[in-house]
Amino acid sequence: VIKNYIGYILIGTLWISGTMVANQGDTVSSKIVKIAHRGASGTVEENSAHAFLEAIRLGVDMIELDVTCCKSGELIVIHDDTVDRTTTGTGKVGDLTLDEIKQLRLSDGQEVLTLKEALDVIDHQCKLNIELKVKCDNVSQTVIDIIEEYVKSHGWHYDDFLISTFNHHKLLPFKDQLPAVKRAPLLHSIPITYAEFGVPVDAYSVNVSVDDITQEFINDAHNRGFKLYTWVVNTREEMEELIALGVDGIFTDYPELFNEL
Ligand code: G3P
Ligand code: CA
Repeated sequence: VIKNYIGYILIGTLWISGTMVANQGDTVSSKIVKIAHRGASGTVEENSAHAFLEAIRLGVDMIELDVTCCKSGELIVIHDDTVDRTTTGTGKVGDLTLDEIKQLRLSDGQEVLTLKEALDVIDHQCKLNIELKVKCDNVSQTVIDIIEEYVKSHGWHYDDFLISTFNHHKLLPFKDQLPAVKRAPLLHSIPITYAEFGVPVDAYSVNVSVDDITQEFINDAHNRGFKLYTWVVNTREEMEELIALGVDGIFTDYPELFNEL
């Protein structure tokens, strides 16, 4: 009887401590929105189909990608103004047609994607942050039209999208035409008025470089009703520090780190 009693206590103790560890893990990572920066770009070619699929496999909440327009008007998923760094070609994206861009290859042999192709690949398996690059005049209207098309006929929802840009003016058409699509002005500085820049665009979140994160900035964003997302955080230790400070979302090139929190 005593042996059985000790056995029950041991099993109970192990079960309780196991549950506590599991809950701690759940609690830490579920406190934030887990965002793959340019997909799983630390291990796979950035802004590519494979980087997006790897991020989904790792269980992220959201993928971030960059879009700019090419000469023939389509939206291209690429970070830089030129194709030089990430593809086999050279030249400004804005000087190349889609046909010319489709001849190029990323460093691992994949094609450069259009925004529509990226939406097809991700296929609403997680949320999507589209960053509008600033050197594309009509980018807001083109993205609005694509979102409407994908909500109407490809199973996406307005709530799946978060639109961000350093050119905050480009967020105003979304506020006017698609208010259900969330907006996130980007900033790489610490203004005197902290998160006030989110007010004119009725921001969902203010997305701030990790270099500029302070407790005051986070508190000010929250007091104004905004989430605070921060980029780019590539170590588990820094993720834990930022979560302790109270950020709501973290962009990383290494989404596998979220599973270690
Ligand atoms: O959206 C956050 C971050 O992606 C902005 O900087 O240069 O990586 O596009 P960048
Ligand atoms: Ca970006």
